[in-house]
Amino acid sequence: MSRVIGILTSGGDAPGMNAIIRAVTRSALARGYEVYGIKDGYKGLVEGNFQKLERSSVSDIMFRGGTFLGTARLPEFKEENIQNIAIKQMKRVNMDSLVVIGGDGTYRGAYDLSKKGIHVVGLPGTIDNDCPGTEYTVGFYTALNTIVECIDKLRDTSSSHHRCSVVEVMGNKCGDLAMYAALCTGAEVVVTPETGYDETAILAELVHLDQVKKGRHAIVIVTEHMCDVHELAQKISDVTSFAGRATILGHIQRGGSPVPSDRLLATRLGDKAVELLEEGEHSVCVGVVHNEIVASDIIEALDNMDIPKTDLYSVFERLV
Ligand code: F6P
Repeated sequence: MSRVIGILTSGGDAPGMNAIIRAVTRSALARGYEVYGIKDGYKGLVEGNFQKLERSSVSDIMFRGGTFLGTARLPEFKEENIQNIAIKQMKRVNMDSLVVIGGDGTYRGAYDLSKKGIHVVGLPGTIDNDCPGTEYTVGFYTALNTIVECIDKLRDTSSSHHRCSVVEVMGNKCGDLAMYAALCTGAEVVVTPETGYDETAILAELVHLDQVKKGRHAIVIVTEHMCDVHELAQKISDVTSFAGRATILGHIQRGGSPVPSDRLLATRLGDKAVELLEEGEHSVCVGVVHNEIVASDIIEALDNMDIPKTDLYSVFERLV
């Protein structure tokens, strides 16, 4: 193996990606590797857009949101000829190891490279908390923090006006952001891919809250893609005395300085990634399970996504 490592971030950015880049870079330099940052994910790998990283290149980035390397989505990376171009670019600087930060799409690209002899380690960086091989992803708790701050503010105004706030949060196909936010804000209703969308039940719950429990306001948290939140807010206005108002939090959830738990996870994962490369691993992803940093075979993790997660749905049902 050469002593040259590349690092890239791919897919949607997440707070804490910079902290991972810092940890990987410093851990690798300390072990005598050369490190190249690859700009804009797999696109930069194909274009050979590399930046040599020194210790000082990653100073003062730990607390910054986003990723200073840039990120992109490159669906064409599935094509073998595109992967071969990327490998040629890597060989140009004698690079045969790669740390990729992102979600499952990012891991698939890395797995394809591993089949062609590149040593790869995947690290989970996404706000959605939907990566294989880990209970938590870097960025999840920062996004949750942003959502909770926003919903606390919405509750102030909803309560003053006897309104129901319907709040759409990100998460793609994973309801963790919505469910964790619901527990942290005392929301009245939560709709996620795991609960499904049952409009009759949602409206009945809100009518009960309005007429029987005499609630002053209500918060409904909905994972994106589950329904049209503006239409739902209108239906709530139609059948209850609450005025329904929809808020789509959108990309604000992806920004901001990472919270300490994301910085810590990022740092532990980044250091472990380099250790695994040094041990000769060639196709693994790293995650956290029961607060231990663990490595899994990347394709096994991808093919069988589920690390059992804590059941928060029954807690929500008891407390609502
Ligand atoms: O994967 C992270 C994520 O923020 C999802 O929650 C969301 O569905 C998607 O990315 C949005 O992607 P884009 O920024 O490309 O619109």
